[in-house]
Amino acid sequence: MDKTIQNIAVLTSGGDAPGMNAALRSVVRTCAHYKINCFGVYRGYQGLIEGDIKPLSARSVNNIINKGGTKLKSARSQEFRTKEGRVKAYENLKKHSIDALVVIGGDGSFTGGMIFEKEFGVPVVGIPGTIDNDIFGTSHTIGYDTALNTVVDAIDKIRDTAISHNRLFFVEVMGRDAGHIALNVGIGAGAEEILIPEENLGLDRLLESLKRSKKSGKSSSIVIVAEGDKIGKNVFELAEYIEENLPSYEVRVSVLGHIQRGGTPSCFDRVLASRMGLKAVESLMDGVSGHMIGIQNGEMILTPLDKAIKGKSKINRELIRVSDIMTL
Ligand code: F6P
Repeated sequence: MDKTIQNIAVLTSGGDAPGMNAALRSVVRTCAHYKINCFGVYRGYQGLIEGDIKPLSARSVNNIINKGGTKLKSARSQEFRTKEGRVKAYENLKKHSIDALVVIGGDGSFTGGMIFEKEFGVPVVGIPGTIDNDIFGTSHTIGYDTALNTVVDAIDKIRDTAISHNRLFFVEVMGRDAGHIALNVGIGAGAEEILIPEENLGLDRLLESLKRSKKSGKSSSIVIVAEGDKIGKNVFELAEYIEENLPSYEVRVSVLGHIQRGGTPSCFDRVLASRMGLKAVESLMDGVSGHMIGIQNGEMILTPLDKAIKGKSKINRELIRVSDIMTL
């Protein structure tokens, strides 16, 4: 391992995710281990542009491994999309003699990091932190496991009231354009139907399926709707449509929203984040640049950032079959 890197900056960007703090802690402590100076950039790329950069010691990340959100705060910077913004950001890195950057975030954050690396030659390594699990090159992103548990817990509670009132609930979950959260929580919480963008179920099939489940004796039901679903109606329109076409159902809608992004990270996310943070620093020390750290079959792997951004994180089709059979 070649330690030519003296100063590393780390930032969190895009939607926060539980476990980002554990990743930050890992980057900071790995730097301390190798006697590299570590700098925290606050508010993502926007903080880089505004020079909101502070040194982080090993002790500065005490007691954050168990905390949701991000101590560094996060932002979606419009200014960083401009060349002028990125020039300001580069000037600030130079001011602190920063040689390399660790970006903890999703595909938007990696796109920014990749452009920055190409323009200014600053080595960038990405750590996937998003609840959506929509990044190619890793089976799990940091925050995804925690979000699944948060959502399942919320749906279990909805089920209690659904059963008590013999109601049908449409529950909208996050995931941007991906259905990973919806598919997994749908199985985990025993939903009747799961609507995901990767698989257009169609309104007719949904109607048929709900009719069938009523006939089979079910008095309450839960349908999970991924926010990016492409059935052509939003969750409220969907509920209206079902009430009009199946008047025997009393329908309610629950949009879980940002509670899915908060809360104490699961043990899985803490361990994943700790491994990824360490691997990110050691990769930079090895001369790696323009890559993302991922996990595949339990092992840490590297994927070029452009592949991580452009590649598709495919849903597991076996899960669709499991769901179909479980909801008979
Ligand atoms: O990418 C994480 C995520 O929570 C998505 O699931 C969701 O579509 C989006 O961010 C919401 O973003 P914002 O916090 O800007 O409303």
